[in-house]
Amino acid sequence: MKQLSIFLLFFLLLATSCSQRGETNVFSPNEETQLVFSLTEKGIPTYAITSGKQYLIRPSALGFTTRDSINLSQHFHIVDVLHATTDETWSQPWGENKTIRNHYNEMAVVLQDSIATQLTLRFRLFNDGVGFRYEYQVNGVDSLQLMNELTTFQIADGDQSWSTPANYDTYELDYTKQPVSAVKSANTPFTFTTSTGLYASIHEAALTDFAGMTLKSTAPSTLEADLVPWPDGVKVRIAGNHFQTPWRTIQIGHKAVDLINSSILLNLNEPCQFATTDWIRPMKYVGVWWGMHLGIESWTMDNRHGATTVNAKRYIDFAQANNIEGVLFEGWNNGWESWGSRQDFDFTQPYADFDMDEVTRYAKEKNIQIIGHHETGGNIPNYEAQMDKAYEWSTKYGIHSIKTGYAGGFKGGYYHHSQYAVRHYRKVVETAAKYHITIDAHEPIKPTGIRRTYPNMMTREGAKGMEWNAWSEGNSPTYLEVLPFTRLLAGPMDYTPGTFDILFDNSRNSPLHKKWNGLDKGNSRVHTTLAKQLANWVILYSPLQMASDRIENYKGHPAFQFFRDFKADCDWSRALQGEPGEFVAVVRRAGEQYFLGATTNETPRTLRIPLSFLKKETNYQARIYADGADADWKENPLSYTITEQHVNASDTLTIKMAAGGGQAISFVPVSIK
Ligand code: NOJ
Ligand code: CA
Repeated sequence: MKQLSIFLLFFLLLATSCSQRGETNVFSPNEETQLVFSLTEKGIPTYAITSGKQYLIRPSALGFTTRDSINLSQHFHIVDVLHATTDETWSQPWGENKTIRNHYNEMAVVLQDSIATQLTLRFRLFNDGVGFRYEYQVNGVDSLQLMNELTTFQIADGDQSWSTPANYDTYELDYTKQPVSAVKSANTPFTFTTSTGLYASIHEAALTDFAGMTLKSTAPSTLEADLVPWPDGVKVRIAGNHFQTPWRTIQIGHKAVDLINSSILLNLNEPCQFATTDWIRPMKYVGVWWGMHLGIESWTMDNRHGATTVNAKRYIDFAQANNIEGVLFEGWNNGWESWGSRQDFDFTQPYADFDMDEVTRYAKEKNIQIIGHHETGGNIPNYEAQMDKAYEWSTKYGIHSIKTGYAGGFKGGYYHHSQYAVRHYRKVVETAAKYHITIDAHEPIKPTGIRRTYPNMMTREGAKGMEWNAWSEGNSPTYLEVLPFTRLLAGPMDYTPGTFDILFDNSRNSPLHKKWNGLDKGNSRVHTTLAKQLANWVILYSPLQMASDRIENYKGHPAFQFFRDFKADCDWSRALQGEPGEFVAVVRRAGEQYFLGATTNETPRTLRIPLSFLKKETNYQARIYADGADADWKENPLSYTITEQHVNASDTLTIKMAAGGGQAISFVPVSIK
C-alpha cells in the first residue's frame, strides 16, 4: 500500500512538473493518436497531433484576436489539467447508423492570463479522430467582437488533398485535387492524405451562433482558420463575457473509407433535445422539379407552370403506385415573379391553378406526404416575418416537411456562411420543430452534426447537386467520387440522384426546352451511366432521398424497381472500399434487407466485394443492376443489365463497372440455412 502511494506521488509530481513546463498530453483510447498541448514562451497555446510515431499536425497555434484588443491568445499559464474518459452507446431516430459508440479520452486544459481571461481548451481524442474547442470567460466585459481565429493546422507530410476553394457564400463549387502544399484556401471538410499513409479531414462540429470556418494558407502546408465575417468585418459577435466555439475536428484513418465510417461529428454534438421524435421519418420522394431545371416547366404561373393541381395529382398517383412516400412541389406559391429582384415570396398564398385544399385532400387519401417548398431568394427578413405563420398554415394542410432555398445573395450584404446566417438557419430548425416540421435546406450552412440535437434538420444541399447537370457543364464522373470523401463526411446531402433520361432525349426537343433563361449550354447532360444513378441512391446518403427525374422517364422502366425496393430509413451502414476521386462502395442495412452501391470515375473498374456483412446462415436473393457490357458514361450511358442470383455471407461478388459507371444491388433474405 505504502509502495503504491509513493508510486502515485511520483506520478503526481511528474504530472505537476509537466504542467509547470506548460506541456501536457492525451491519447486516443487505442493509443494510436496523441495530442500534445504546450505553451510557448509568450504563453501562446499550441497543440500537436501524432499518429504512431509520426506528426500529423506539427505544433500549431491556438487563440483569437478581438476588435478592441482584449487578450484571447497569449500570456497564459496552466491552472489545471483535467482528464476523463467516456464510453457510451447512443441511438438516433434515423441516420446511416441507428446506434453509435461514443468513446473518447478528454483532456481539459484550464488556462489563465495575468489579467482577466480564463480559457479552457477541451480536447477529445477518439480512435477515428480529434475534436477540440475553446471555452472562454473574460471578466470585466459585457460583450466581445472576435476578429481572427488563430487556430492553425500545420500539416506534416501532407500529400494530396481534395477541397473546394474557400467561399463565404456558396459551396456549389468544383473540387480540386492538389498537393496539400499547393492549397491556397478551402471550405471544409478539407480532406487530405499524408505520405505516411494516413487519410484525414478537417471540419467543424456543432456550429452554433458562430461564423462558419474556412481555411486559408499562411505558408505551404499550413492552414489557418478564416471565419466568415459580418458586413463590417467582425467575425463573431458575443453578447456577454463568455462563449464556447464549435469543435474544430480532424477525422483520421488508415483507409479512405475510415473517414466515411467515422462518427466523431455526431459524437461531438449534444444529444437530441426533443421529447418525441416519432414525427420525424425518413422517406423517398419525387417532385415537380426537374422539368423546371430543364426549362420545360416553370415555377411561375404561366403556360409552362409545373405545380398545377392536375400535375400534382399525377405525381401523387405515381408515388402511391411506386412505394414512394413523399411528393415535392416547387413553384406552388405567389412570389416567383419577384425571383431575382424583390424576392418577396408569400408562403401562405398558393397560385390560383394549385388548389391547395384539393391537392392535400388527395394526398391524404392516397397516404402520400407533401413536401412544401419555401424559396426565400435570400430575403431573410421576409422569411422570418412569415415563418411561424407559414409553418402553422402548412401543418393545417398536413404538410410536415419543408424544403427551403436561399438562392441569391442575402439581403443586407450578409454572407450565407456568416454568424448572421448560422443564426437564421438554426432559427428555422427550431421554429419548424415547434410545428413538428422537418427541414431540407438548399443553399444551406454546411452540416456539422447538429442533426443529432435537432433530428428534424434532415438533409441539405451544400454542394453542386443534380441540378447543375441541367443547365451547366455539370458534375463530372470524378466529382461524384469526391463527394463521399468530402461534403458527405459532414452529413446527409439532398443531391437528388436518379435521372434516367441521361442525355435529355425526352426533353431536349421540347419546344419549351430552350426557354431556360439562356443558361442551357446545349450540351448539358448527366455524366454517368444509368447504373451509377441507381448506385448513388445508396452512396449519397439522405434520409429524404429523391428520385430526381420527371415521372414520365420512370414509367415502365425496369431499373426503377431498385428505387421502389430501396428504403430511405436504414439501420446500419458501412463504406467498404474506395479512394477519393476514384471509386467507392457502400452498403446499408434496412431491417432484414441490404442495399449496396458502387461507383467509379472515368476509369472502368472491377471490385471484389466479400459479402461478409450479410447475416450469417441466411440466403439472400441479390438483384444486380449493372452496367451493360458496352456501357460507357460518354458514349453509351443507358446500357444496363438486371440479373438475379442467390448469395450468402461467405460469397464474394465481382463488381464490374464501366467508365463513369456503377452497380446497385438489393439483397432480400430468402431462407435461413
Ligand atoms: C436551388 C435549389 O437547389 C433547387 O433545388 C431549387 O429548385 C431552386 N433553387 C429553386 O428554388
Ligand atoms: Ca442549389
